[in-house]
Amino acid sequence: MPPTYQIPDPTQRRFARTNVQTIQQRAALLRELLPDTRTIAELCCGDCSAQSEIYRSHLHIERYVGLDLQPEIVAANRVRGIECVQGDTLDPKVLRRFADFDVIFFGPPLSIDCDGHQGLAFHDIVPGYLDFARLLLVDLHFAGTLICIGPKTTHLGDAQWLYEQIGHRRSDVKLRLIHHSYSTVTGAGDNTEPRLKYVELWFSTWLPNAWELRTSGLDTARVAMDEA
Ligand SMILES: C[S@@+](CC[C@H](N)C(=O)[O-])C[C@H]1O[C@@H](n2cnc3c(N)ncnc32)[C@H](O)[C@@H]1O
Repeated sequence: MPPTYQIPDPTQRRFARTNVQTIQQRAALLRELLPDTRTIAELCCGDCSAQSEIYRSHLHIERYVGLDLQPEIVAANRVRGIECVQGDTLDPKVLRRFADFDVIFFGPPLSIDCDGHQGLAFHDIVPGYLDFARLLLVDLHFAGTLICIGPKTTHLGDAQWLYEQIGHRRSDVKLRLIHHSYSTVTGAGDNTEPRLKYVELWFSTWLPNAWELRTSGLDTARVAMDEA
């Protein structure tokens, strides 16, 4: 039975998208850890206009490409001048074209119908992290950096499990960073109290197996609260 994918209804103005503070944090981490990054892919991209803009203005990238299953979302990204592919991220024919990219962000839907509210747990996310990692790393021999964007409930046990599953077939793939991204804005730009938004697992063949726990966005939040 084919997996049931969470697809947003593009006529809904507020389907889930990543907030700009988190994207700025990812750009800063790429500048610090992988300054030679030239090609970035955003898989299950949704509306990736903010990512395209921030990565292009903060990094020396030559190519930023999105991939989404939803034709209207792909069309909307293309209208914004973003190179965007329509297809299933678990389709080897589709994914093969990203196998030589420097950095891949894998950001599957983390909520039901991509509404941003009915959150899903790490092991309930579809397309799943293991299915995707196996296809990209084992079948397609990806040799860059894969950033798995997980729900805020992702814990060390999830990271350990995915790392070990990958390690069975690709011992050269290391876990450099477990990044907890906090922000004080929503994807729609509304201000909020400081919230943990994502837990990202940074796997790479280029970086050491440091398993560093890093938190971003709390300092700005604290300043905001002090000034309030
Ligand atoms: C709403 S977005 C949210 C996450 C997005 N990465 C972001 O940062 O905002 C999730 C997108 O994943 C797409 N999607 C769901 N299943 C997919 C699949 N199997 N292959 C490609 N895209 C998929 C949906 O159409 C939706 O646009």
